[in-house]
Amino acid sequence: MSEETRRQERTPVVQMVVVGVIASAIGIAVGLAIEWFPQQGSTQAKTIDNLWDLLIIVSVPVFVLVTVVVLFSVWKFHVRPGEELLDGPPIHGNTRLEVIWTAIPAVVLVALCSWAYIELRKIEEAQANEMRIDVVAQQFAWSYEYPQAGGKPVRSTVLYLPIDQPVRFNVKARDVLHDFWVPAFRMKVDAVPGISTRYRITPRQLGTYPVVCAELCGLGHSVMRSRAQVVSREAFDAWMEKQKAPAGAAAGDAEGAKPEAGAKGEEAAIDATKLYAEGNGTATACGACHTLADAGTSSQTGPDLDKVLKGKDAAFIRESILKPSAEIAEGFQDIMPKDYETTLSPKELDALVAYLEKVAGK
Ligand code: CUA
Repeated sequence: MSEETRRQERTPVVQMVVVGVIASAIGIAVGLAIEWFPQQGSTQAKTIDNLWDLLIIVSVPVFVLVTVVVLFSVWKFHVRPGEELLDGPPIHGNTRLEVIWTAIPAVVLVALCSWAYIELRKIEEAQANEMRIDVVAQQFAWSYEYPQAGGKPVRSTVLYLPIDQPVRFNVKARDVLHDFWVPAFRMKVDAVPGISTRYRITPRQLGTYPVVCAELCGLGHSVMRSRAQVVSREAFDAWMEKQKAPAGAAAGDAEGAKPEAGAKGEEAAIDATKLYAEGNGTATACGACHTLADAGTSSQTGPDLDKVLKGKDAAFIRESILKPSAEIAEGFQDIMPKDYETTLSPKELDALVAYLEKVAGK
């Protein structure tokens, strides 16, 4: 090979390297500049975002390398007029080159996997003072249970979390597969019927974050939303105290909410507001999907009860709870649970109907 041809062959490689380095730098800069995720709501989010940045820094040059080589080859070695029937020079492979392009990606992959594994172990580590919250998924609503030592758990359809408090979520599903995802926390896990899955996070920023179902679970999947509210320790404790307060005063005066004197065994009085807002542990809480000013719920998954129940009587309300498919409000889908006849006791149903008629009906 003459000195002349050798120089000609080397030139494109130098060009390719220059083009590749510039394109990679631009690609990395753009990749790092884009806001891929919502704000970092948990300490885990920082770790995950760092890993994401590392993946961009490593993978963009690989993408650029492959693209530049492909485009360059198309431009430099395409068939020219008169060459259609030529077979080109015979190539028998290059062992050294093949060893290199197998070894380098292998080393890169092992390094990245090790990094990811170490980080994952770190963010999944149990914390000494962690708080347990049971997350219950059900078509098509979320509910949260805060276990209480020696008592019934406190239930809520809003996920209240004290800031800087490590939390362990135990995730359960009552019916089909769902997936508990709070994008701001970056963590996500399937809710699987029959078993309990889990993950841990520590909220590090006050605020309200969307909770999303990330597993196709039926007609109402896209509206299976809830919210996580990170509050100060004081606000959380105050909220918890309020939830633990015995049922009564607030809604006990709703007509029908008081059981006949002498009814023993069950709760002394059914707190219809609480039942509406939190469910009873089996029945999905109405408040998980409906807006009702009196109970302070604001979800828009289902129709706004303050509007659709206006002027309606107890019979209509009862029918709407037991046979939700009979009449579907305009703009909504037939996704309301159809099992209230079995998940609510007759007394609970009476109390709920009376309460709704009183605060939203005629
Ligand atoms: Cu629940 Cu999708």
